[in-house]
Amino acid sequence: MNESAKTYSVPSEFLEASNIRAEQYASMYAASLADPEAFWGEMGCRLDWITPYTKVKNVSWDKNDLSVKWYEDGVLNVSVNCIDRHLDARGDKTAIIWEGDEPSDSHSYSYRELHREVCRFANVLKAIGVKKGDRVTLYMPMIAEAAFAMLACARIGAVHSIVFGGFSPEALAGRIVDCDSTVVITADEGLRGAKTIPLKANCDAACDIAANAGKPVAKVLCIKRTGGDVAWDTGRDVWYHEAVTSVSDDCPAEPMNAEDPLFILYTSGSTGKPKGVLHTTGGYLVWASMTHEYVFDLKEEDVYWCSADVGWVTGHTYIVYGPLANGATTVMFEGIPTYPDASRFWRVCDKHKVSLFYTAPTAIRALMREGDGPVNATDRSTLRVLGTVGEPINPEAWEWYFNVVGGGRCPIVDTWWQTETGGAMIVPLPGTTPMKPGSATLPFFGVEPALVDAEGNELSGATEGNLIIKQSWPGQMRTVYGDHKRFADTYFSAYPGYYFTGDGCRRDEDGFYWITGRVDDVINVSGHRMGTAEVESALGSHAAVAESAVVGFPHDIKGQGIYAYVTCVAGLEPDEALRKTLIQHVRKEIGPIATPDNIQFASGLPKTRSGKIMRRILRKIAENNFDNLGDTSTLADPTVVGDLIENRLNR
Ligand code: WT7
Repeated sequence: MNESAKTYSVPSEFLEASNIRAEQYASMYAASLADPEAFWGEMGCRLDWITPYTKVKNVSWDKNDLSVKWYEDGVLNVSVNCIDRHLDARGDKTAIIWEGDEPSDSHSYSYRELHREVCRFANVLKAIGVKKGDRVTLYMPMIAEAAFAMLACARIGAVHSIVFGGFSPEALAGRIVDCDSTVVITADEGLRGAKTIPLKANCDAACDIAANAGKPVAKVLCIKRTGGDVAWDTGRDVWYHEAVTSVSDDCPAEPMNAEDPLFILYTSGSTGKPKGVLHTTGGYLVWASMTHEYVFDLKEEDVYWCSADVGWVTGHTYIVYGPLANGATTVMFEGIPTYPDASRFWRVCDKHKVSLFYTAPTAIRALMREGDGPVNATDRSTLRVLGTVGEPINPEAWEWYFNVVGGGRCPIVDTWWQTETGGAMIVPLPGTTPMKPGSATLPFFGVEPALVDAEGNELSGATEGNLIIKQSWPGQMRTVYGDHKRFADTYFSAYPGYYFTGDGCRRDEDGFYWITGRVDDVINVSGHRMGTAEVESALGSHAAVAESAVVGFPHDIKGQGIYAYVTCVAGLEPDEALRKTLIQHVRKEIGPIATPDNIQFASGLPKTRSGKIMRRILRKIAENNFDNLGDTSTLADPTVVGDLIENRLNR
């Protein structure tokens, strides 16, 4: 059966009670595109402004004059919008439920307690010299202090740059140096599924690398999480629990312009080193809060849980900023889905009465593999809406999530978006949009998607092509930190005047969008973006490697796995030991998330006569698909293909 033929209608209990009614979506959507000034002018009022904006949108997507501004004369503070403004009505409401790695370990913070924690954290940052506009790097486990630190930065106008705890010291150092960050916040160790992660030791190593690059880190603020042994540099390192004893419980919030930076988040591209995606204050928060409210059909009494890590954009927008701006109760989870066993997610849902749950297809597939038993052992009756994000969800996993986890009651919101977009872009609304397993369905308000062919011709009707967005939305990234030209080159030069997503996409006869995956050299491993060029550069930095080419291949759980073809320097006979060494080397250079699943040693790589590696062929071979290799006659040495296939088959 054609996948798109299978449609699930909105569960009846949602039709009446949802925040957006079916008949409203079409008219609101049309209004949002027809008159963005009016539409977003009104939507901006969902925030508290110190100085209200008089201008709404000021955008040029001309790559030679690229400038994106929303609410540009408005003044506000993000932490005030996420905390202070709720204190009167929701002071005693739970803001954050923190669930630790061990099921016995959890703690709740009311909005009033959150206010105190964030003020104290902000005062500690000030005491160690952080000022408005400074970049502060966070390398933290999923503890409540990570959210306090983000909001504390926002409170004093510092710009946070979070580096996921699974990145190596080398990767952390690169990000510290790129944004000239002189303060790093970390913890002694992280905990994930009974494993400890040596965050402070990694941070120390990163500081050494940064110092050698001429960019010394002045202060490392360390949270005590496990009490494990750590090295200590008395001139540089500060224990948070010591510093916090001497600060006040109150910290005035810095008035920020709507276009002042809120955070930088590094993400991989098809070339070069990771880009520092910059998001600003006003438009981002409008987008984060509005999408969070509508996509999850948020109600005052909901308990909302996004299982992501704050090291990714999902954690920024949908653990911290969106939910807290909406005065919601948000769960932060330190652990992993399979510890202590494969029931953990659903036990946490029962324990905290979670009603809105958001996770990644890779987690759903990993849990589906464990069968229905661990799910059926739990109640889950509080669940209302289930979300997914990060990669296309295969219809089989969708059906399992819908039927087994949600008992057929809960709409699934498959949310397509990117680090660059700030929040959800193509997504069903739970009370409004019929669902098709595997489709992210229809655009959110203000989002005008289109499909184009390689030449940039817009395609109409049911078709497939490259996904572009035709007009700006408030949550979009503003620049690549320190490299505005790269911003223009990456997103606005392939199809002049439009934002290019890097994704391929199909549109069906009902106008529903089906993301087919990246069309550039970016792969998606467990919902995490990885540039093949980064892995190649890590491999290439090892003395044994002459050349390498990295591609993605279909992986049952991870979505895509990492497949590396490596040619060795002359005279070196590769063996199993070298394979292991190279895998370790990549883990050291980038981090465990970049661990190659396969390394195939090769005597040569397929190249055109001009020396360009033909990745199309390498992708097919990695997929074990040898029949459709396409035209290989332009290769400089067509015999390498036969060798590659033979070696693939022998493995
Ligand atoms: C890329 C962005 C958005 C936060 C997590 C990833 C893929 C994301 C979906 C989805 C199909 C998806 C795209 C996109 N992607 N969500 N629902 N269906 N593909 O953020 O690391 O910036 O990656 O993830 O390929 O371009 P990111």
